[in-house]
Amino acid sequence: MKAIRNNLYQFSLYIPPMDFTIHQYLLNTDPAILFAAGTVQQAAAILPDLKTILGKKPLKYVFVSHMESDEAGGLRVLQKEYPDLTVIAGAITARELPGYGYTGKMITRRGGESLTDGDLSLSLSFIDYPSEVHLQDGLLACEKNSGILYSADLFLRFGNGMGQVIRKDWHSEVEHIDTQRVPNEEARKKLQQRLESLHPAFLAVGHGYCIDCMG
Ligand SMILES: [Fe+2]
Ligand SMILES: [Fe+2]
Repeated sequence: MKAIRNNLYQFSLYIPPMDFTIHQYLLNTDPAILFAAGTVQQAAAILPDLKTILGKKPLKYVFVSHMESDEAGGLRVLQKEYPDLTVIAGAITARELPGYGYTGKMITRRGGESLTDGDLSLSLSFIDYPSEVHLQDGLLACEKNSGILYSADLFLRFGNGMGQVIRKDWHSEVEHIDTQRVPNEEARKKLQQRLESLHPAFLAVGHGYCIDCMG
């Protein structure tokens, strides 16, 4: 398994008829975190690679940005392999997780809050994200030491993004968040302001091409 950046591993599913890619990411810190559970099929497919990368270390966290099958569908598959894992999600998403068959530990966070673990080797801060399906109450997560921002559907691009990284100016990416992504103008402005104050080094996108941030 080749990392897409330092200790960040990408797992991808490309769907040719849609020209669309779905990604998950393992940040192999101690403790380790998976961004997006993937669908049931994806979670099952990545388990052998997860085990190879993690070795004896368990998967401690899964970050679930919002309630959709690509973010949360595979949780019960992961829980079966790693019974002690903890899901990090917003309160509304956490409330809905039992519907996906997940019965394990959960930590809820909201935008502006953080979580650190492992003598600060994992240091997450959370951003409110009015995400699909309900266009509210989702989260993004930024890991401060690595500068990695898991951006779920926010900087979505079509195309086969497996293993692909493009370089973009962070400020213009934020500026170009449009009403198609976040229709509520007030919520969109608030999100853009919050993102403007962040300086991520790398966008681990849920779909499309990862972004090496300039500016
Ligand atoms: Fe989504
Ligand atoms: Fe998605």
